[in-house]
Amino acid sequence: MSDFPSPITEIEERRKFRSEPSRLPRSGQPIGDSPGPGRYTGRRDGHDDGFPAPRFRPRHEGPPPRMTLATAAQKYLLPWTRFDWPLDWNLHFRRAGLLRAELGFGDGEYLEKAALAEPKINWVGIEVSWFSVRRILRRLEERGIENVRVIQADAAVALERLFPGGSLDALVINHSDPWPKKRHHGRRLVQDRFLAVAAGRLRPGGRVTLATDHADYAEWIARALAGSPALQSAFPTDRVAEIPGRPSTKYERKGRKAGAVIHIFVWEKTGEESRWLPREERILPMPNVLLEGVSQFEHLFEDWKGREERTVLAGIEVQVHLLGAYFRTDGSEWLVDARVDEGGFFQNLAVSVSSREPDRVLLKPSTVGFPRPTPGVKRAVHLLAEDILRRCPGLRVVATGVGELGDLTP
Ligand SMILES: C[S@@+](CC[C@H](N)C(=O)[O-])C[C@H]1O[C@@H](n2cnc3c(N)ncnc32)[C@H](O)[C@@H]1O
Repeated sequence: MSDFPSPITEIEERRKFRSEPSRLPRSGQPIGDSPGPGRYTGRRDGHDDGFPAPRFRPRHEGPPPRMTLATAAQKYLLPWTRFDWPLDWNLHFRRAGLLRAELGFGDGEYLEKAALAEPKINWVGIEVSWFSVRRILRRLEERGIENVRVIQADAAVALERLFPGGSLDALVINHSDPWPKKRHHGRRLVQDRFLAVAAGRLRPGGRVTLATDHADYAEWIARALAGSPALQSAFPTDRVAEIPGRPSTKYERKGRKAGAVIHIFVWEKTGEESRWLPREERILPMPNVLLEGVSQFEHLFEDWKGREERTVLAGIEVQVHLLGAYFRTDGSEWLVDARVDEGGFFQNLAVSVSSREPDRVLLKPSTVGFPRPTPGVKRAVHLLAEDILRRCPGLRVVATGVGELGDLTP
């Protein structure tokens, strides 16, 4: 996630901004945009009419696109890491409805057309690229579309963690990256496990549609589908080249124009149960540890080499890397760089180790990046506390929110 500018930060910036009323444009007080019809634009004849004068954005400041983006993000973009998983989709759409999802929506043409064609369907768009997310947010806002919610995430992770079993009526994947080189085939979205998860999230009779113009990837998909007992083709053949009325994308039209065959797989969920059903993943309390007896706080991590652990927590494979420690220039805090992978859900975070009077240190996840408190994050704090206790014999555990910190004396 850290490779992408965080939409959350942007929303938060906007919230901060909103809490400062003096800087907020009031309705009828345009900033930059030309005033819409019926909006108050203020008197231009120099008389005070009791209303604040409109502030027009000077030309050199340019247009204010973030205004629209921030509004659209608040409406459509779900801060999915802040909720318990799987999500309660009816709550997020504020209505009950058939749920469909498109993974890797790119420029969003399919999603937009599908949502407009069937306004009663609740559509979820999942895309990893912030550039694409930003574009669809603007499009949704401009078109006034109400039945779409957007998730910026890795599609495989989002599908597995955010959707309850049997919750999806349809799943659409148009032209996911084919990763043509053999050594990159493991990066292809369609894998045996992915299809098993997809089948588990579809309702019986629900459909997964996969389109590709890449012949080799099409054979890969065909093999994976044929090996999925919980899915069967909705057509007599395993794929078709065209479906009348199906919204196309620019990518697809370009392919067809260049003479490519489009392979469209539409497979239906059978009665077979998938073993990859979602588990509940609740947000945990922020884990912290208070230690006593620390002398020479500034030397706490001298010659410390970091730490790494692979384990299974609550049925999920977890990797924790504690990479290095950085000392704050004011001498009050160490920040330990941590990377936590929980079954493909990655978080880069910092664990704060701060000095408390008289000889105590408090360990807790720093607000840097606003990490989701998960079993893996708790484990990161636990491992760090263990390392400190090993390195500084004689320390006492005053309080622990990460479970037992046993006798670690060497
Ligand atoms: C070749 S484009 C196709 C876009 C669109 N579906 C279309 O047909 O025009 C593939 C899209 O998938 C997105 N993508 C790639 N890997 C992804 C992943 N793991 N999770 C979510 N989106 C992904 C890319 O950012 C890109 O927008």
